[in-house]
Amino acid sequence: MCGIVGVTGRKDSVEILVSGLEKLEYRGYDSAGIYVNNNQKQAHLVKSRGKIADLKKKLIPEIQGSTGIGHTRWATNGVPSIENAHPQFSTDERFYLVHNGVIENYEELKQEYLSDVSFASQTDTEVVVQLVDHFVIHDGLTTKQAFKKTLSLLKGSSYAFLLMDHEDPETLYVAKNKSPLLIGVGTDFNVVCSDALAMLNVTKDFLELHDGEMVVVTPKKIEITNQDGESVHRDPFHVDLDPKETDRGAYPYYMLKEIDEQPAVLHRIQKTYFAEDGSLKIPADLLAAMQKADRLYIVGAGTSYHAGLVGKRLFEQLTQIPTEVVLASEFAYDNPILSDHPFFIFLTQSGETADSRQVLVRVNNEWQAPSLTITNAENSTLYREATYQLLLNAGPEIAVASTKAYTAQIAVEAVVAKALGMARHISTAKNFNLNHELSLAANAIQAIVDEKQTIKEIAHHNLAKTRNAFYIGRGVDYFVALEAALKLKEISYIHAEGFASGELKHGTIALIEDKTPVIAILTQERTASHTRSNIQEVKSRGAQVLTIVSENLAKPGDDIVIPTISELLLPLVSVVPAQLLAYYASLERGYNVDQPRNLAKSVTVE
Ligand code: F6R
Repeated sequence: MCGIVGVTGRKDSVEILVSGLEKLEYRGYDSAGIYVNNNQKQAHLVKSRGKIADLKKKLIPEIQGSTGIGHTRWATNGVPSIENAHPQFSTDERFYLVHNGVIENYEELKQEYLSDVSFASQTDTEVVVQLVDHFVIHDGLTTKQAFKKTLSLLKGSSYAFLLMDHEDPETLYVAKNKSPLLIGVGTDFNVVCSDALAMLNVTKDFLELHDGEMVVVTPKKIEITNQDGESVHRDPFHVDLDPKETDRGAYPYYMLKEIDEQPAVLHRIQKTYFAEDGSLKIPADLLAAMQKADRLYIVGAGTSYHAGLVGKRLFEQLTQIPTEVVLASEFAYDNPILSDHPFFIFLTQSGETADSRQVLVRVNNEWQAPSLTITNAENSTLYREATYQLLLNAGPEIAVASTKAYTAQIAVEAVVAKALGMARHISTAKNFNLNHELSLAANAIQAIVDEKQTIKEIAHHNLAKTRNAFYIGRGVDYFVALEAALKLKEISYIHAEGFASGELKHGTIALIEDKTPVIAILTQERTASHTRSNIQEVKSRGAQVLTIVSENLAKPGDDIVIPTISELLLPLVSVVPAQLLAYYASLERGYNVDQPRNLAKSVTVE
């Protein structure tokens, strides 16, 4: 949700900023901009509407500098436009600021301090940069003092800021609260970024920042101070990621690459969590804490919430501990009646989702309960702030629509559930050969992605022109239907809904018209015949039915038959045709699959 980058001490700063922004484009892509300055105070500000490619067109060779900041925007306050694009600047053009987050009290601040300023944009960010300028010009503060004073006025706000002062062209002023930000450490240069991915081509050593901290960065120094003004020493961590992992390679879109990577991701999870002798590598203290729980609460948003729904089945069957799955954005402000010994599991690909983080803040401060974050992003906010952490190891997920993180989340949930069930001596867990089943799941996914041409044709015939579609299923098939419908709507803009197949007749069936696509998922023996009856109900009202069926339940005329593996893990497999259907439907309809409208990958606002 907005990506920011900064660099100081590099002659090739424009190239570094632009390539960083390209890597961060998944965080927002409705406008972009950079500001660069050289040691002689020759500065350039370039902004454009649209994507980084549009910004690049404006970057003539004369635009150079040794220090600079850049931004790719996902609009919150103010429509996407050049005026509202960042960097925002003060009226006297001395201060330039990029921002990720939301300033809650910007209207009040504007009235209190800046009633005589005429604003060039509708953004909350401009208020912040004008405030810094105001405190420097009117109150005679230094830039650092003015920045600090401004930060102290931003009540309840989320921000990652990068500020430059035209008069001090080698310094980046940096601050963070609730929004992610890292400092990348170099030799005679330093960089700043929302996500390490953006700067892996210049450094692999990063410093995490904590909420409320402010940092002054020059080519040779990084000075961190906390809210009380005390200086903070922190050692960098090393990111062991090959920048090539973030390349699209020969794929037309990241989403297709990430769908295809799913078998490899499952194998990596097996390697990470199973020892040679087949035993599970889950930290003993985590298992001990989970064993004390009388109820598990799985917290997530969007696709991660859907993975949590599948997880509920896994945890309840393998551990016999009652499990609730909650939507982070709702639970954050609910008044739940918690069990006596709750244990919270956070599912989050990015580790930065503000809604989930808000729940974790309550878990830590109000409920003082133990928690586990399962995430793809080491050192992310939810990773750091939970009691325990496990990594998905799915590799960077760049496409906005999540695919491999979903399957990785289910696989890691299965690993934890199996380990906890074994520790509790639950026979279902003991008898469940998870390592073997994960291998079968990986093979099954491979078989589907190898045959993607069939799915492409189905998308062409059945989804390219439709306005609406339904996914139906029962039990875990229903949970997959929810995820399948989300994938279809977010990238192909087809209005799609996931329904429990038995529920259709209680109202929604009224929406079925001649040729409405209804895609049924059938992988559970106990409920398959009931779903077959529901298929007949919609067929007789004109629906064009497609089926995704596990081989053991398949009948002549079924459309997509997937290999049979353990029912508990079939969501790992049945979701893949749905991911591919969404991908090809989006392509057929001529959309940018990786960057759907209105969305951003890392949702760091509530
Ligand atoms: C949809 C999608 C989103 C995310 C949601 C939570 O394809 O990716 O629904 O799942 O925004 O994000 P994380 O998992 O990063 O907390």
